[in-house]
Amino acid sequence: MSCNQPVDVVTIDLSRGEAEIPSLLVWYFFEEITHSGDGGLYAEMIRNRGFEDGTLPSGTVLKDGKAVAKPLHCYSNDSINHFSIAWNDSLFMESWEVKCVSDTRPPFYEITEVKPLNNATPHALFIDLGASASDVWVMNDGYWGIAVTEGQRYNFQFYLFTEELKNTVVTAALLDREEQIVVSKNFQIERDGSWNHYEGTFTVDTTANDLRFALLLPHKGKVYIDFVSMFPENTFCGHKNGLREDVAGMLRDLRPDFVRWPGGCIVEGLTMDNRIKWKEMIGDIVKRPGEYNLWGYRSTYGFGYHEFLQFCEDIDADGMFVCNAGMSCLFRNGDYWEEENRIDNLIQDALDAIEYALGDTTTVYGKRRAENGHAAPFPLKYVEVGNENVGLRYVKNYNRFYKAIKEKYPQIEVVCALMFSPYIQEAEKIDILDPHYYETAGWFYNNADVYDKLPDDIPYKIYVGEYAAIGRPSLYSSLAEAAYLTGVERNADKVQMVSYAPLIENAAHGKDHLLVLKNDSVYGRTNYYVLKMFSENRPDVNLHTDLKPASPEPVFRTNGFIGLGTNNTEAQFKDLKVIVNGEEIYTSGWSDFVDKWTIIRGDWKTEGNLLSQSQKGIDALAILEDREFDDCTIELKAKKFLEQKDSELCLAARIRIIILWRT
Ligand code: AHR
Repeated sequence: MSCNQPVDVVTIDLSRGEAEIPSLLVWYFFEEITHSGDGGLYAEMIRNRGFEDGTLPSGTVLKDGKAVAKPLHCYSNDSINHFSIAWNDSLFMESWEVKCVSDTRPPFYEITEVKPLNNATPHALFIDLGASASDVWVMNDGYWGIAVTEGQRYNFQFYLFTEELKNTVVTAALLDREEQIVVSKNFQIERDGSWNHYEGTFTVDTTANDLRFALLLPHKGKVYIDFVSMFPENTFCGHKNGLREDVAGMLRDLRPDFVRWPGGCIVEGLTMDNRIKWKEMIGDIVKRPGEYNLWGYRSTYGFGYHEFLQFCEDIDADGMFVCNAGMSCLFRNGDYWEEENRIDNLIQDALDAIEYALGDTTTVYGKRRAENGHAAPFPLKYVEVGNENVGLRYVKNYNRFYKAIKEKYPQIEVVCALMFSPYIQEAEKIDILDPHYYETAGWFYNNADVYDKLPDDIPYKIYVGEYAAIGRPSLYSSLAEAAYLTGVERNADKVQMVSYAPLIENAAHGKDHLLVLKNDSVYGRTNYYVLKMFSENRPDVNLHTDLKPASPEPVFRTNGFIGLGTNNTEAQFKDLKVIVNGEEIYTSGWSDFVDKWTIIRGDWKTEGNLLSQSQKGIDALAILEDREFDDCTIELKAKKFLEQKDSELCLAARIRIIILWRT
């Protein structure tokens, strides 16, 4: 740069301190989604370890290949959502394969409830080995392959039940893709007609990421198998039912002040019956039933409430527990409970969760915590009532939760899950409000000042429990999120806490989350490093700054492709035009829709000059990736179709024109 080139001037006035910035600013939010826990942070290496993955989501019945929820009224507007998802029994064998070693006549096998290992996990794999031509491999793929490191030790266990087996030696092994044994251990099996537990350790002398765990069974007799599990000996902080060292290490390095857990929509559930139940997420992992989660797979509940609290302690963070507020996710079944005693039970459940974390060992749940290996209290500071809820039914329940929690635990700060909503005024008292922002990168870039507009006398703190720039993660979207965070810091007297979401994705199952992992590695996207920089460079106070740009209007030029989106509404679009210098350079007739547009989400169809999107869910998106556009004007006609009576849902129903920058 030459000396006489004009420069931007930033003036920082050291004498004018503005909002103080609390150290609470950077958090994160953990939810079981895209295998962030099972197949992610949680170090379990065997997928579908208890043969329970085919169990229907609680609160649904199987009908015509679908798991169908009860036709109950939705809490927001009394509609009946008729919620269902495709369902397939073969999920019971997810990640498992049974075959005979000679690859000829396979044995007979099935998933059965005839010999439950325990009541909570009723299914087991039954194999009639006699039909097989040779000995039998029962193999598990893990979470997209099992990864091991040379010199490391891996602790495994399994349960067998048999009265008749040709001989009593069963081999546990790790196999490579050619079914060659990498490491193995023999077990002498009891034939006493009861469940027996076997455990061992493999020390491997190779590094690989595509192994399988296998049991080799003799080819005569009958056997039941259940709960096959394997963990690396080295877990984060050395806990037995522990977390992956590499993944947990990346999370610790963010130095969060608090962690929000366990959700998210998962707290609400597909149906009320499908909601998260923390009492099933403590104690012996063999007896944790797990639950199908609304993100498309079954959670083992292995990374449960106790493990979450332990993790908070290990990384020196405080915990925020989110409880169900009496309603399931309104974008799924949305059913709700209203009978006093049922809400009382949910409130008691939340109080018990607090007692589990904080109570001394003379209390019922404090004692349970001690029995589970932790006599001292855990660092729980916050309880959120529900997630992303709307409407009066929610507020009524929230008020009851608030009162009960404060009466017994005045030190707990209670978070209200109403987004900025007309019903806020019906809440008797709010300590903290939790609005969420999933917007485009452009939105974050252009709305770094969104909180400058908040009134000064806002009577509660704001915790942005979830935010993320949607679309492809890129350096641009990370910078846009960083710009937004500067706006949070600037208004830290009002917005005291934020957490990015979602946190972790398994690369085989993911989208655009902060940390990406495979079975042998993990990396942070650029926005992970944005958060790390904010966390490592914590300011105490805002100072008044003034920017005088060299050119009056800084020009930000880039190019990218366009898209159309909807949120919570069906919509129709027509007459889309992209205009540059008065010239129409793109006009939709939609004849190019099938070939040139890519549907990311939603149900998009064209008819003549109309393009319609008919899914009411969140973030439907179709993009025209084929064309590059620079500075331009975009015009179109659009119509949204709203049936909902609830005004908040109408507020949440949006149509979007999206410009996604190419990076
Ligand atoms: O982060 C994914 C989901 O987005 C959360 O479960 C929910 O709270 C939000 O809508």
